[in-house]
Amino acid sequence: GWTMVNIAEESIDAVRARVGDKRAICALSGGVDSAVAGALVQRAIGDQLTCVFVDHGLLRKGEAEQVEKDFVAATGVNLHVVDAQERFLAALDGVTDPEAKRKIIGREFIRVFEEAARAVVGEAAAEPVEFLVQGTLYPDVVESGGGTGAANIKSHHNVGGLPDDLRFELVEPLRSLFKDEVRALGEQLGLPAEIVWRQPFPGPGLGIRIIGAVSRERLDILREADAIAREELTRAGLDRDIWQFPVVLLADVRSVGVQGDGRTYGHPVVLRPVTSEDAMTADWARLPYEVLQKISTRITNEVTEINRVVVDITSKPPGTIEWE
Ligand code: XMP
Repeated sequence: GWTMVNIAEESIDAVRARVGDKRAICALSGGVDSAVAGALVQRAIGDQLTCVFVDHGLLRKGEAEQVEKDFVAATGVNLHVVDAQERFLAALDGVTDPEAKRKIIGREFIRVFEEAARAVVGEAAAEPVEFLVQGTLYPDVVESGGGTGAANIKSHHNVGGLPDDLRFELVEPLRSLFKDEVRALGEQLGLPAEIVWRQPFPGPGLGIRIIGAVSRERLDILREADAIAREELTRAGLDRDIWQFPVVLLADVRSVGVQGDGRTYGHPVVLRPVTSEDAMTADWARLPYEVLQKISTRITNEVTEINRVVVDITSKPPGTIEWE
């Protein structure tokens, strides 16, 4: 039968046949697709694979540790971590325009990955890295006009603007799979549930969930509020009912509040829980009032810079899921 065990075994065999005794590199984002692709290729070729994790400082609380500790523990993968937090903060300094943020984050990511790839390539020049693993899914293939049944190969594809002397062949072991199949495969490969069941998260991360300029202090505030919202959603058993749950910091807005004996003048956060099938359209999620109340109370009690919590009740369209 057509089971996940078969799919896993066949994919592992196919990768092993293709890569042979060459080396491969993969970029982990913290998301499920790159994690499953990396884990599968690790099963196929072991230490011939090096995974690169660029810590841009825009991930949520605990997510870098999930990659650096839990993913490595579950897979035994060779991991090369680049702490690029300062670099991303410097590049984003004072930038408020959403598209400008995206461009900067994308550009810096390519540069840092390129440097890391050169370092990895250089580690064993005798057997150069020839393959780049990507977690491309079937819907991505269709969307980009790749068609069905295409060979699992795009020769010497120059990924996202890598320079000419850093050319790789792509290995895309998830090209025929949908998201739910990728999650099942991730479970089959023994990945932690927090990674396998992670909700979609944008590449630019928390950088586009701070309305206003990004700074370390603002990221820390948002990370705390976001962690509370996620924790309470999980505690209520609602993780799998919600497509995504952005928490957005209105960093340039202040409002007056009162707490204890004193007046406060803090920032609002927006809760943006949505339901969706594919992110093309979305509806605002009717979270139970008790869950919303718990999140609101905890955020205002535990995150001193935040004194107001609001809920976004706009569907998509006309709103988008993210605020930027
Ligand atoms: P919107 O906000 O347009 O988002 O309704 C639709 C889906 O795309 C994600 N998203 C992004 N993902 N880079 C990404 O990798 C981006 O720049 C980006 N912007 C939005 C968003 O989280 C949602 O899942």
